[in-house]
Amino acid sequence: MLLVAGYTIPKGVTIAVVTTALHRDPDVFPDPDKFDPTRFAPENTHNRHPYAYVPFSAGPRNCIGESLKRRNMQEDFHTSF
Ligand code: HEM
Repeated sequence: MLLVAGYTIPKGVTIAVVTTALHRDPDVFPDPDKFDPTRFAPENTHNRHPYAYVPFSAGPRNCIGESLKRRNMQEDFHTSF
């Protein structure tokens, strides 16, 4: 048995994490549909739970390309302005 956000999850139940919804939680990402790359600036992420934004998954089998892709995306962002 597992307790998640006040819900009791019985043993054996399959849980799907809907990242589209997770990444649009306005409590974590205010005005979630606004394009705002500064959300990911270090000063805006240091208080955010590490699993609040998980496009690369999380845990022991998460994406090994994450740091490479994050660096690529930052370079793309900086060169487009
Ligand atoms: C925007 C780009 C990418 C996204 C969104 C992405 C996302 C993901 C996700 C969601 C997983 C599944 C993790 C899990 O099962 O919990 C994964 C696994 C993996 N990714 Fe990526 N990925 C990206 C780019 C890359 C790149 C560039 C590489 C290699 C250079 C890479 C290598 C891998 C590998 C090897 C796994 C399997 C890890 C394992 O099962 O232990 N990915 N990725």
